[in-house]
Amino acid sequence: MPGYSISQVDTMKLCVVMVGLPARGKSLIARKIVRYLSWLSITAKSFNVGEYRRGYQSHPTAEFFDDENLESLKIRKQALKLALDDLIDWFNNSNGMVGVLDGTSMTREKRESIYNILKTNQIQPLFLESFCNDQETIMHNILDVKMTSPDYINDESKSDDNKIDSEMKINIKDPEFIINDFLKRISYFEKSYEPLDQQKDSDKSFIKLINVAQQIIINRIETYLQSRIVYFVMNLHIKPRTIWLSRHGESMYNLEGKIGGDAGLSPRGLKYAEKLPELVRQSAGYRDLTVWISTLKRTAETSQHLPYKKLQWKALDELDAGVCDGMTYEEIENKFPEDFKARDDNKYEYRYRGGESYRDVVIRLEPIIMELERQENILIVTHQAVLRCIYAYFMNVPQEESPWMSIPLHTLIKLEPKAYGTTVTRIKANIPAVSTYKEKGTSQLGEDLTDTSNKSKNIIISAKEELFNGTR
Ligand SMILES: *[C@@H]1O[C@H](CO)[C@@H](O)[C@H](O)[C@H]1NC(C)=O
Repeated sequence: MPGYSISQVDTMKLCVVMVGLPARGKSLIARKIVRYLSWLSITAKSFNVGEYRRGYQSHPTAEFFDDENLESLKIRKQALKLALDDLIDWFNNSNGMVGVLDGTSMTREKRESIYNILKTNQIQPLFLESFCNDQETIMHNILDVKMTSPDYINDESKSDDNKIDSEMKINIKDPEFIINDFLKRISYFEKSYEPLDQQKDSDKSFIKLINVAQQIIINRIETYLQSRIVYFVMNLHIKPRTIWLSRHGESMYNLEGKIGGDAGLSPRGLKYAEKLPELVRQSAGYRDLTVWISTLKRTAETSQHLPYKKLQWKALDELDAGVCDGMTYEEIENKFPEDFKARDDNKYEYRYRGGESYRDVVIRLEPIIMELERQENILIVTHQAVLRCIYAYFMNVPQEESPWMSIPLHTLIKLEPKAYGTTVTRIKANIPAVSTYKEKGTSQLGEDLTDTSNKSKNIIISAKEELFNGTR
């Protein structure tokens, strides 16, 4: 297999066991780890104990989480068991590499039993605690959960508004009820909570995040994969933020259907550059942001009127088409018919002669993603393939789909990461541009907009899936 994979370094299976009270951002961290590793081609999956519990009790009130409530305690134990069974089955039968057990694992006793089950199955446990006593962060998390947690959403409300009974509707919409109920839920958990401890848990591999990543305690981090996860979670923050993505304006090469090169913008591309500040302003208001561009002329020209700090990254340069740089797809098809076909067959892995593959681009983008996680509001002006890779990271788009996503010119994409997924808004500049989209099996450019299975809908479809099914 071409390219690089962390998995070759460690042969052992790893399970990240989340620890911590509700509303500490555990699920968010769990999903981010899975998304990050999947993007790097490491088979990863999160098993959310709450989702297994929802199979028995979908809209519990706080009392359900009282340890003295024996009936519900049984359900919660059963949910944990089912999650663990599935996790082990996934490791054994689906070549799982990194599983995440996303529960609370409150007590030392419970952690010990999970530890033993994993060890018996040749899986290496890594505990990851999110410890937080900052009331503002906790409240922020509760409000975020309130908006989107399945525990407080009436399933029917999605399909048919008229069917919601009025009482349920009040519960869904009443933030005060949800906040109080959630605070009560937390107080039940607090009774038995035993945080990870440097002395008492010194024999375990663990990461303890204190107030997100204000302070981090790490213990017995032994493998490369573990240290990658440490480095990744170190860089996370949960402050609200927005990321905007835009391709450069239409270039002279775009007009001729040529790929690569370092051409300047076309007259319509320059119009887009003039309009971009207004589009950003409408979307961002008076928030401060930083603009990241590539080292190529067309991104510099596109960002020239933006009144923000700008940073140039070589890593944001377009996928290098090697010997095909400066050619049209038609020319490539004529001159290198086998390459043309090979690329259509596996666009993610195909590497241009003397150039790059999508996989190569993902690897060089890794520092960009890490830095994006650290930053707040960023606008990235870059190129089609690079944008697809960045978008795939945020929206969890599988590798076989990401190189085929349609990302039109003259469109600003707004990404807002939230607790249960990322929302996407596409803002069109209404300045015409050529299509640079190439369907599989043709060298012609342009999208068949009458085809309902068309990839141009991909962005919106992925957005919805992510929004309604954050665990994808
Ligand atoms: C899973 O595989 C491990 C060995 O890799 C084995 O020890 C264990 O019994 C298996 N578990 C199940 C439930 O099949």
